Amino acid sequence: MKHFLQFNDLDAEEHAHLFERARVVKARFKNYEKYQPLADRTLAMIFEKASTRTRVSFEAGMYQLGGSVVHLTSEGSQLGRAEPIEDTARVISRMCDLVMIRTFEHAKLERFAAHSRVPVINGLTNEYHPCQILADVFTFIEHRGSIAGKVVAWVGDGNNMANTWLQAAETLGFTVHVSTPEGYQVQPDVAGVRDAGCWKVFDHPMDACRGAHLVTTDVWTSMGYEAENEERRKAFVDWCVDEDMMALAQPDALFMHCLPAHRGEEVTAEVIDGPQSVVWDEAENRMHVQKALMEYLLLGRVE
Ligand code: CP
Ligand code: NVA
Repeated sequence: MKHFLQFNDLDAEEHAHLFERARVVKARFKNYEKYQPLADRTLAMIFEKASTRTRVSFEAGMYQLGGSVVHLTSEGSQLGRAEPIEDTARVISRMCDLVMIRTFEHAKLERFAAHSRVPVINGLTNEYHPCQILADVFTFIEHRGSIAGKVVAWVGDGNNMANTWLQAAETLGFTVHVSTPEGYQVQPDVAGVRDAGCWKVFDHPMDACRGAHLVTTDVWTSMGYEAENEERRKAFVDWCVDEDMMALAQPDALFMHCLPAHRGEEVTAEVIDGPQSVVWDEAENRMHVQKALMEYLLLGRVE
């Protein structure tokens, strides 16, 4: 049994398989072809933080595959009344075939997985967001072909998205140019990458963007860090992806953002709504890659 808690839980070959399956299931979806290999399977989704894309993509995706979903929140379940996560895992995994969790500390997700009889998927933790990076890399491949050897510029917080980009770079063989404000750097031990060659740090965001094939950013304040909002607004003021930054990247560079976005903060409206932005394809692709992931975790390699 495999879980998908971090991007590097799967190797390059397994990721290549997922990207190929995502292409196939996406084409079937676009052609209104029924594909229901997960009939009678149930996905439990536990949300301890807000969500639009993750909720809709998993829920719609599971129904399209013929299965059903159960949606839980901490407030609406016994998790919010201090039932141990281990007990919750034991119970849910006796009734459902697959579990997706969005929570705070990654350690909590690991505790759930350690007591689960069924595969567990990370729907975002404070430290990682592997489903999003699956969608981002798939979107890059759709638009530009292989990401191996390419340069991705990360402009902004050294957060869950940044950590996961580093893992993807190490696993798939590309480089991340990282620029964060002082005090918000990526911590390599948290990112969990061993190959120092897969990322490079730049003090100035302009320098990180130079020559990049993809420029990407995220909110200045992630969920769970709202108390730092004011402090962060000051620290991040120069980490706004604008047309000057995009002009330093490759002429055909793409722009991505996991969304939700704040125009005028981490990105200008001209960039996110401009011709290089692929954020809507990126959001849609969450559903296609996660359908491929659920198929893989439950049925193994389907050709
Ligand atoms: N990108 C992403 O995970 O969006 P949601 O928070 O809306 O799920
Ligand atoms: N880094 C953001 C991503 C939201 C999808 C957060 O954790 O809130």
